[in-house]
Amino acid sequence: MKLAVWDPDEPLRRWRDALTQHAGELGLAIEVFDARAEPDTQADFALVWKPPADWLAGQLGLRAVFNLGAGVDAVLPLMRSHAPDVPLIRLEDAGMGRQMADYVAEAVLHAYRRMPDYAVQQSRRQWQSLPLAPRGGFHVGFLGLGQMGLAAARRIAAMDFPVLACTRSGRARDGVDPAWPLYALDHLDEFLAACRVLVVLLPLTAHTRGLLDWRALQQLPAGAHLVSAGRGAVVDAHDLLELLDSGHLAGATLDVFAEEPLPADDALWQHPRVRITPHVAAATLVGPAAAQVMRKIAAIERGEAPGGVVDAGLGY
Ligand code: GLV
Repeated sequence: MKLAVWDPDEPLRRWRDALTQHAGELGLAIEVFDARAEPDTQADFALVWKPPADWLAGQLGLRAVFNLGAGVDAVLPLMRSHAPDVPLIRLEDAGMGRQMADYVAEAVLHAYRRMPDYAVQQSRRQWQSLPLAPRGGFHVGFLGLGQMGLAAARRIAAMDFPVLACTRSGRARDGVDPAWPLYALDHLDEFLAACRVLVVLLPLTAHTRGLLDWRALQQLPAGAHLVSAGRGAVVDAHDLLELLDSGHLAGATLDVFAEEPLPADDALWQHPRVRITPHVAAATLVGPAAAQVMRKIAAIERGEAPGGVVDAGLGY
């Protein structure tokens, strides 16, 4: 079977080596080609990161498309218009959960230990200890509890911070600790009011775009921190800046932005209480991702339904 890889960020050789090794272990014969170099070659399966619409439209025999990341917002609209009957499958963790947990753990400790306040004091050469909040009252709320949110929430709970979460349905799924208060999205305000740190790991959909605007962010308690590592357009950055400037929010750790790279003249770059990373919280790892994709292809070959099939209606 033929596997097309469209990935502007990795040399094809890395994907080919890893896919071929895992296919061999599963007893599957595959041929891997670089879709960017051979756009007219037809594939049975495609592994893609931000492919162009015309290439996808020209692929007429696809049995499934694998998104080489957790978030499918870039490819889903193309699939809807050019390949509506082809299943779109996202990566499920594949080594990204641990990276996300690391990123969020650092941000939560940074907030808890009042590092933004100490950074301001340092800029003034000020030597002054600040009181530490009781850990048991330092609630960390997860807005979005998919693969990334769950991995990070479990790490934060293991660090003895109280965890709460808000998801579309508010219903628990496997791996969610029954002790965590769970809110449905229509109780967002109530959830936000209880978060000392808000960790945003929602997928970007028509319902989540701009969800965290001034009105919503204002529900967070005074002195709260924001960690945004899912999709930038969920947060209104202008409103966020206003709430940081007014002192209502104490700090923000931002990995994702509505426009990436973040434009050089964006006010976020300069803000003393904002930390910026260039969309690196959880990178796709070729080895684990290739292993997972080959296992899913093997399941499809056996006539089974693989995990991670995107629900086009929900948008994730
Ligand atoms: C990264 O942003 C991903 O969606 O995997």
